[in-house]
Amino acid sequence: MRICILGATGLVGRETLTLVDRAWPNAELDLYASRDQEMTHADRTLPVRAALRLEDPETEGGDLAFVALDDQHSRRYVPRLLELGYRVIDKSNAFRMDPEVPLVVGGVNCEALTGEVKLAANPNCTTIPLTLAIAPLARKWDVVSIAAASYQAISGAGVAALDDFLAKSKAGYERADRLGAHLDASDYSGNTVPHAGKTDDSGFSSEERKLVAESRKILSRPALAVSAQCCRVPVAVGHYINAWIELGESVTLAEVEAVLADESSSPFVRLLPGPQGDGLSALHCVADRDRALVGRIRHDLRDEMRRTLCVTVAADNLRLGAATNAVRAANRWFPGQDADLAVVR
Ligand SMILES: NC(=O)c1ccc[n+]([C@@H]2O[C@H](COP(=O)([O-])OP(=O)(O)OC[C@H]3O[C@@H](n4cnc5c(N)ncnc54)[C@H](OP(=O)(O)O)[C@@H]3O)[C@@H](O)[C@H]2O)c1
Repeated sequence: MRICILGATGLVGRETLTLVDRAWPNAELDLYASRDQEMTHADRTLPVRAALRLEDPETEGGDLAFVALDDQHSRRYVPRLLELGYRVIDKSNAFRMDPEVPLVVGGVNCEALTGEVKLAANPNCTTIPLTLAIAPLARKWDVVSIAAASYQAISGAGVAALDDFLAKSKAGYERADRLGAHLDASDYSGNTVPHAGKTDDSGFSSEERKLVAESRKILSRPALAVSAQCCRVPVAVGHYINAWIELGESVTLAEVEAVLADESSSPFVRLLPGPQGDGLSALHCVADRDRALVGRIRHDLRDEMRRTLCVTVAADNLRLGAATNAVRAANRWFPGQDADLAVVR
């Protein structure tokens, strides 16, 4: 089997490489990034080629390609990979809302990856854990509406933003200033900032719009009432979401926890029972990288009918929110050797 990873040197590409080694240990690898270079990975030095080389007429094809590039470069290289005969999982936003392209979450809707499908899109890093928590509830009860507030880690913005954040945080916190007033008020370190990129006439940012539109597509509910507010918090890895989920009928917390605790009805969810949220933090995700951590399930105090749930969901944005989901989805096409990366649904 021949597997290609575009963007292999980036945060998501490196995680993808780790998981490809687990799922298909004997695969032949072709790695691409912005330029010819070498990368070290798991004590190996691997050659990486410039993605431009894919456009050479003599470039050979392969079986499976993972694309971890920005939207613009995905749009450029995905058609070429398809032409070369690869089945492609693209992790950017470029194809997610294309009606011809399945948008898949391992554990929710990977049945969409039939033999005829050649290109699938990997959802946004907050949409994946949120839909993993909501889909099991939606299979049992009617979900009427969802509101979500996200607290997203800096690594979601890629390796350059993460390294800049780490360096500025180190320098910033070395100074004895309890207010942090010397830090840049519009930057990430020591700060919480709106995830405000590409805000449109609706007033919502592209990140907020992605969470809304992608959740509707994955849950096959095009008119589902969803609203989202997203911000970035000064955390390296691990996205955290507080959601309010309105169901069509009243439920007990024990009923909800029973659904989410059952691995067969809620794949890739780790329920942390009770209201305290013990074990439910961004850093806990980094220790449990391939699950959505779900907990703090309570009745919303505004809803006397007890139909609305307050729920917290957290997940490693580089793994469950990106690389793990892509590799699980690809397991539908090419069953791998790691049971935790296989998907039934
Ligand atoms: N980070 C997350 O939490 C997350 C989660 C879900 C989805 N995603 C999506 O996944 C994609 C990758 O994100 P990331 O965080 O891994 O980004 P990243 O860390 O910034 O890595 C970007 C990758 O793109 C390569 N690249 C840059 N310019 C290129 C060019 N002109 N031609 C070919 N390759 C080029 C880089 O190669 P060089 O090393 O050679 O520069 C690097 O391998 C994005 O679409 C992002 O939205 C990210």
